[in-house]
Amino acid sequence: MHGRSRIKRLLGLLLLTLALRPCCDVSASTTRQFTFFQTLMLYSQTSPVIAVLPRAPITTSPVPGLTSLYHKAKRGNYGDARYPGNCSGELIKDLLCYFDAKRVLDPLTGSGTCTEVCRELDVECRSTDLRSDDTDACDPKCYENIGTFDFVWLHPPYWRQKVYSRDQRDLSNAPTLSYFLFRYQKLIANCSTILHAKGKIAILMGDYSDREAGFVPLTYHTKRIAFSCGLRQACTDIIRFSHGASSSKKVYRSSFIPGLHDVCMVFTKPELAITGARRTSLPYSQDAHRFCFRF
Ligand SMILES: C[S@@+](CC[C@H](N)C(=O)[O-])C[C@H]1O[C@@H](n2cnc3c(N)ncnc32)[C@H](O)[C@@H]1O
Repeated sequence: MHGRSRIKRLLGLLLLTLALRPCCDVSASTTRQFTFFQTLMLYSQTSPVIAVLPRAPITTSPVPGLTSLYHKAKRGNYGDARYPGNCSGELIKDLLCYFDAKRVLDPLTGSGTCTEVCRELDVECRSTDLRSDDTDACDPKCYENIGTFDFVWLHPPYWRQKVYSRDQRDLSNAPTLSYFLFRYQKLIANCSTILHAKGKIAILMGDYSDREAGFVPLTYHTKRIAFSCGLRQACTDIIRFSHGASSSKKVYRSSFIPGLHDVCMVFTKPELAITGARRTSLPYSQDAHRFCFRF
């Protein structure tokens, strides 16, 4: 038996013995010990496991591995893995190849994951971010004279799950959910104005449990906003397994069902003449604005 697996077996036996030990005289120190080993046991139960995924049908897709379950554990050598909320470049690459993108807009670029994927694929890309060049993606003026695009990649903050800056224009710094949604709606509406007919907007978003607001279904709000901007969903939701999320290594004192994925939703701008789809009134009103900041 190899040294490492022998150690694992011994550790397993030790944990089992401790777990089965009767705990009648529960002194403070035994409770502490038990809690420590209980935590260890739980840690082993939440380790990564191999899951059997359903077989995908054979199609003519140029990216056959791209299905509704995105499980690649490697992130690719794009962007900076240490940037908060950084996402895998592999998913972006698969989407660009699948949709045969020619000109990409990446207005929340962060560490530049999408930029680097585009460079590798030799696809033109315009990348900006509030933090790096003071470009506010929620401001319609930032979309003037930049031309049109056939693909937009959006990986917005999941409201205030991770705060990127104290800039009042930063989506992650919105003091209330309604103000975040009001600004998020501006972002999606702006992006839809520079999109070619039949172009795609791919949005990677996750639901989030906020300390004050409770569970916030941001994927639901994303669809609601996109549809009211006259966009239609282009394909299945892509459930991206959150490999390497920093939260997966934490120990919480509360009970909840951990979310281990985020969702990539791809929207398209239909040709009006064909579908009759049009913009309806946007769901999140400007009133939200008043309650937030005093300028
Ligand atoms: C989830 S991160 C993007 C991470 C990126 N996908 C990567 O791989 O590194 C969200 C980004 O949105 C930016 N951001 C937030 N509000 C913004 C705004 N109003 N205009 C432009 N960028 C904004 C933040 O600075 C942050 O870099």
